[in-house]
Amino acid sequence: MAFLAEKLVLFGATGDLSQRMLLPSLCALDADGLVPPNLQIIGTARSEHDDADFRRFAAEALGRYLPEDRKAAIPGFLDRLTYQTLDANDVGAFPALAAKVGAADKGVAIFLSTAPSLFEPTIAGLSASGLAGPNSRIGLEKPLGTSLETSAHINDAVAAAFSEDRIFRIDHYLGKETVQNLLALRFANVLFEPLWNSSHIDHVQITVAETVGLEGRVGFYDGAGALRDMVQNHMLQLLALVAMEPPASFDATAVRDEKVKVLRSLRHLAAGENVTGQYGAGAINGSAVPGYAEELGQASQTETFVAIKAHIDNWRWKGVPFYLRTGKRLPERKTEIVIQFKPVPHSIFARQGATTEPNRLIIGIQPQENIRLSVMAKLPGLDRGGVRLREVPLDISMPNAFAGVRKRIAYERLLLDLIEGDQTLFVRRDEVEAQWQWVDAIRAGWAETGLEPKAYTAGSWGPSSAIALVERDGVTWHD
Ligand code: BG6
Repeated sequence: MAFLAEKLVLFGATGDLSQRMLLPSLCALDADGLVPPNLQIIGTARSEHDDADFRRFAAEALGRYLPEDRKAAIPGFLDRLTYQTLDANDVGAFPALAAKVGAADKGVAIFLSTAPSLFEPTIAGLSASGLAGPNSRIGLEKPLGTSLETSAHINDAVAAAFSEDRIFRIDHYLGKETVQNLLALRFANVLFEPLWNSSHIDHVQITVAETVGLEGRVGFYDGAGALRDMVQNHMLQLLALVAMEPPASFDATAVRDEKVKVLRSLRHLAAGENVTGQYGAGAINGSAVPGYAEELGQASQTETFVAIKAHIDNWRWKGVPFYLRTGKRLPERKTEIVIQFKPVPHSIFARQGATTEPNRLIIGIQPQENIRLSVMAKLPGLDRGGVRLREVPLDISMPNAFAGVRKRIAYERLLLDLIEGDQTLFVRRDEVEAQWQWVDAIRAGWAETGLEPKAYTAGSWGPSSAIALVERDGVTWHD
């Protein structure tokens, strides 16, 4: 039975994620009485602060990022906070943190949202100061390395202090309600699963489009690029949830066993099965925006867009392409999965001149949360000029279907699971490594063929070769 943490230690407590997501999520959970009554939150970072400073910092962040109707919970929440200044590179500084945390047998959840270069010294410090004992678990924010080798290195360092059942690797997409809903759609309905295979599905499209550019993350993003920033983690997790076999139950081992099988079945890309791009100056929502190189202040070969034709080599998905695309400075913010079914084997209406369009299931993840199934229907009338058919949508809008139910942000769910010790929505080491293996092979292909990102105008759907990538197969992207 997983232990309940009564202490939560936040590394990087004065950082951007803490301010925008972590503190507001924790306070929202507190407002609903969902955190353990005795929960103490110990913030730590290198900057010199005392408890009162940190509470002021938190109060300001909560004032800004917490929904109005939760603000009454702020004073009670602030009482839970304390702060310890800590240079994670100094192992001698950790005993002071351990003293602040107090009895570690109470159950300690540690959350690391710091620069990856600090992971190893932090683990060493936690270990040396007794904070990595059997009643401690650790949550790790991305990026966990930049390749299989570097991620294995970090994973080894963490594994030296924490067993795998106490390591919680975060992919915040798994905390999104609509992403979890994918599992409900597939496995709580009898309708889709019998058709969910290569006999009935023509192809799958997964799009994660963003309108934002570099957002001041120059140092990080230029060393990462779209493939490592978005595909390696979020998009491959979406792909795994779409493609996995039904797990026997909704628990951490069963779900993750099925996901890793998919990730290991990803075929290495052949030449021409991916396209990369980098945005140039253009316009987003009518406002002019600079190009990537301009934002960066220098020329760069980093890709801000990638489109891939992926294949899963197993029985279920034989011959079904999974088209993935993601990019910055695209025309709209949209995360969406499209399941394109095959046409009916024979149209009884063909002689009447009617055309049938194959069914399509569109799963909108953000910003629109909806599920839409296109079906063919007959146009009302006496059909004197022949039967006419038209595609009509069966539409479920999640906000309408569940009006009145509070919408949680991803970190609320993930932090609560970290405190309670449920690993189902966290990524296991073998998954991360299978993801990296595939991504490393793609990058090796780029190096080998000298593939360079093609320019695209900010506000467009990426380079024209991304359109050609699918059009060769008679497919169009669902824009
Ligand atoms: C992060 C990436 O993991 O996900 C960012 O580092 C990206 O570059 C972000 O903008 C997108 O997350 P969301 O939840 O806004 O889709």
